[in-house]
Amino acid sequence: MAVFDPRAALRRSLRELPAYAALEDPAAIAAQYGLDIADVIKVDGNENPYGPSPKALEALRSVAYEPHVYGDADQKDLRAAIGGYLGVPPEAIVVGSGSDELIEILFRLYMEEGDRIVTASPTFGMYAFNAQVAGAEVVDVPLLEGWTFDTEALVDAAMQSKAVFIPTPNNPTGNALPLAVVDRLLETGTMVVIDEAYIEFSRQPSLAKRATETPGLVVLRTFSKWGGLAGLRIGYGVMHPEMASLLMQAKDPYNVNAAAEAAALASLRDVAVLDERACTLTGERDRMSEALARLGWVHPYPSEAVFILMRLDRGDGRLVRDGLRRRGIFARFMDTPRLRDHIRISIGLPEQNDRIIEAFREIGEELANA
Ligand SMILES: Cc1ncc(COP(=O)(O)O)c(C=O)c1O
Repeated sequence: MAVFDPRAALRRSLRELPAYAALEDPAAIAAQYGLDIADVIKVDGNENPYGPSPKALEALRSVAYEPHVYGDADQKDLRAAIGGYLGVPPEAIVVGSGSDELIEILFRLYMEEGDRIVTASPTFGMYAFNAQVAGAEVVDVPLLEGWTFDTEALVDAAMQSKAVFIPTPNNPTGNALPLAVVDRLLETGTMVVIDEAYIEFSRQPSLAKRATETPGLVVLRTFSKWGGLAGLRIGYGVMHPEMASLLMQAKDPYNVNAAAEAAALASLRDVAVLDERACTLTGERDRMSEALARLGWVHPYPSEAVFILMRLDRGDGRLVRDGLRRRGIFARFMDTPRLRDHIRISIGLPEQNDRIIEAFREIGEELANA
């Protein structure tokens, strides 16, 4: 009798199953370190420590939205509300289950086996993940010293590729992509996907409006960071309306869940609160950078996002991450050659940030005496 082999039956590009290094389960780490999860400061996921806005919480608790019926496949209310918020036509917007889904839809529409995409590492992992699933090749143009973008190499790579994916500010380095580089990339005629997941924490203006008038420029945005809705999964893309209509055609019809839709609509009625929180977080970010730099062995890179990447002179990223974990602070260590002596922390509430700074001070002394 023949037996089905689920691995052997996979598409060729999936034989080596890609794995996205997702966040570790906080409950499991807490158990490992004997911590009460309620005391943990979770700063490993670039999440918003304030959580959803008051109006979003109210909407989630209300009975006004209807979880038992399918939502609107055309996303009319949501696209209109986002359009009003950004000052762009709703026809230029496509909403997804996290901006991650927009990346996936772009791959579904445009990438086939053998196609190339350009990234600039270190960067967000989902572009390469989707490329691997699609059987597309990733042409990586590593960031230069100080995490600056290698403009000429990016332009060269873009000319031989189907799309470029760059976040601004970049995750995990925190620096913004200069607009002049975007201009150069657009001149190549290749699709340029600018991921603005953290734009609300940056001094840089959004390219959303420009994307509606520029064929080939796609801007990704999310409610996960500014809106504090990471767990509900809701994000969107802004692009030329003609392209948006193609994405609308190719997306799953009910791709945005009812709770996420209700919370996102309510968040857009609470913009002032969310903006004020973003402002507090960027102030805290700068305060933390200065305090950590004063320790002498921690070197934070300038950040325009809601997290800080820092290079460590003592120990390495894993040791410092473990030292923080012992103190109930969960930070992100990335085990790659360029980031092994780095750690990334997202910004917490002011009192949490004080605890984080104190923990770094203690760990620094421990490592100096080791
Ligand atoms: C650059 C970047 N883009 C997108 C995302 C994911 O956003 P979403 O939660 O909307 O899928 C993240 C999450 O960390 C990110 O860092």
